[in-house]
Amino acid sequence: MDYSNLEGFIFLDGKLLKWTDAKLHVLSHGLHYASSVFEGERAYGGKIFKELEHTERLIRSANTLGFNIPYGIEEICKIRKDVLEANNITDGYIRPVAWRGSEMMGISAQDNTIHFAVAAWKWPSYFSPEAKLKGIKLNISKWRRPDPTTAPVNTKAAGLYMICTLSKHEAENQGFDDSLMLDYRGYIAEATGANIFFVKNDEIYTPIADCFLDGITRQTVIEIAKKENFKVTETRLKVEDLSQYSECFVTGTAAEVTPVKSINEVQFNPGNVCRLLIEKYTKLTLS
Ligand SMILES: Cc1ncc(COP(=O)(O)O)c(C=O)c1O
Repeated sequence: MDYSNLEGFIFLDGKLLKWTDAKLHVLSHGLHYASSVFEGERAYGGKIFKELEHTERLIRSANTLGFNIPYGIEEICKIRKDVLEANNITDGYIRPVAWRGSEMMGISAQDNTIHFAVAAWKWPSYFSPEAKLKGIKLNISKWRRPDPTTAPVNTKAAGLYMICTLSKHEAENQGFDDSLMLDYRGYIAEATGANIFFVKNDEIYTPIADCFLDGITRQTVIEIAKKENFKVTETRLKVEDLSQYSECFVTGTAAEVTPVKSINEVQFNPGNVCRLLIEKYTKLTLS
């Protein structure tokens, strides 16, 4: 598998190109200085789940990094639709990405061209199906989510993912599926590409999203849980309290709702709350 060498079509700067022709120059600001933003979206039965929310977040991420994507919301939605159709995808993952180009190659890149691409591929499950069913195993990363005054924490800016890849690689090398990241204060924050929830006495707890992505799936799951009459508390959560919780799960566009089996030596039992939320979330994605 090599994502640069698949069959199909990718939208790049105004054109649908053959997959293998969608290239950028090695001297691109986005590559050297991480001036790049992206989205991760899913299509279910030909329909993008929360399309508007993802499009708005993409535009907001770019604006936070100080640039404008050269397409509006409607144009981006049309491009996405064209890419899905060209690749004959009804159920899959969509990756819009925007980055600064090559005119200036220093820290400053005020007038660089903004490039925009959209790719899509078939992608059934982020974690392996058996891991997803049994629950995933997390370690705790040594890398922490940064202070909001250090980085634009509530964006999908490529630069924020450096610590996620470092954490996930270390977790995988130690036999875990993923890593729980703490925040800069030492409170529980999120996994490397998904938000985290806990259950105690049929009540749901999740960290306050003040220094990491307030995921679209997170917001959706909170809404579903409240509709199902669960009490949902957004609060500061501590590692030393982990053993108080009976269930744990992560949420994200890629992960959907995935039970967590353990965090280091603390075990959880994917139970009724988790099962119900998986069922309701799946139903919503297909509606
Ligand atoms: C670091 C991080 N946190 C949380 C999420 C979940 O966000 P969403 O539910 O919007 O996909 C993602 C995935 O995009 C992510 O990369």
